[in-house]
Amino acid sequence: MEKMKAVVYHKKGSPEKLIYEDVDKPVPAGNEILVKIHAVSLNAADYRSMQLRLIPRNKIFGADISGVVESTGEKVFTFQPGDEVIGSLVDYGFGGLAQYVAVPENALIKKPKEISFAEASTLPVAGITALQALRDKGNISKDDKVLIVGSAGGVGTFTVQLAKHFGAEVTAVCSTKNVEQSFALGADEVLDYTKENFTQKTKRYNIILAVNGSYPLLAYRKALETNGTYVMVGGSYLQLFKSLVFGWLLSFGGKKMKHLMAKELNSDLEILAELTARRIIKPVIERHYPLKKAAEAMNYLKQGHSSGKVVVDVV
Ligand SMILES: NC(=O)c1ccc[n+]([C@@H]2O[C@H](COP(=O)([O-])OP(=O)(O)OC[C@H]3O[C@@H](n4cnc5c(N)ncnc54)[C@H](OP(=O)(O)O)[C@@H]3O)[C@@H](O)[C@H]2O)c1
Repeated sequence: MEKMKAVVYHKKGSPEKLIYEDVDKPVPAGNEILVKIHAVSLNAADYRSMQLRLIPRNKIFGADISGVVESTGEKVFTFQPGDEVIGSLVDYGFGGLAQYVAVPENALIKKPKEISFAEASTLPVAGITALQALRDKGNISKDDKVLIVGSAGGVGTFTVQLAKHFGAEVTAVCSTKNVEQSFALGADEVLDYTKENFTQKTKRYNIILAVNGSYPLLAYRKALETNGTYVMVGGSYLQLFKSLVFGWLLSFGGKKMKHLMAKELNSDLEILAELTARRIIKPVIERHYPLKKAAEAMNYLKQGHSSGKVVVDVV
């Protein structure tokens, strides 16, 4: 059996539990594509799955990949060797922290040439989450006043840019070190949460996206315009729990309290790839790590204060 390098989860491994080692190189089944991975971006889903002991079957994390088609099974007709691709492995068992992965063709779209592999790898989970939160849950329209709480991470940086693309007036909330970044991404106003608290201000919003941070649900509700929509995107487990259990109780008087469970749709990934190719949105990559240092990358992301995305370069 041919071998490849991968970063494998070991229950009793080193403190990180992620070990760079040799494993069997996958062989694509009839309906599968073997992708030579160039870049993988990490998400909260990777470390949260690990914390919850939701370990992928092949024990390899990493969902958002970009790379080149190495070979295809005999039932694959839409891709051929040499095609550059992007994909989310969230619904296909992860496996991105490796030199190769075998996936059904439904997991992939073609990567526009204008986007680098690293940029492409940032789009699936974070970009799709931002898009679906604004468009599908928030029903965003031009001139909406949008508050993005947690504007500086993977999801937040896409959310600011997409909200501006939809023509909204954006208020971003982040810590001091990320204030300039949120302005640079297009935010009209930035609140530094170490100095100001949006819940104590009088401004009201048509849409509030809670991407990170933790405020009482009633405070979010109070900051909504009549007919405004709050969308719980992420944050602590407690915040998620409260939103799921009590959100619907607070949806009255025209105000809506919703939560998002993003779906990895190729149609949305196509939209994001095109917007990126046209430089309407620009992925923010704070750090790159080589594959052998993926455990370090995961530890950094887990601290919860990255400024944009963290990418693991495989090639
Ligand atoms: N609902 C869904 O379908 C879905 C999909 C994907 C992700 N998520 C969730 O969305 C959340 C964000 O994901 P991500 O990938 O963007 O994570 P991330 O990149 O790790 O987010 C880190 C960012 O959060 C900011 N942050 C931390 N504490 C904050 C606070 N108190 N107030 C405001 N900002 C704060 C940090 O900015 P500062 O350093 O400035 O504090 C940092 O830039 C996670 O909870 C994730 O689980 C949900």
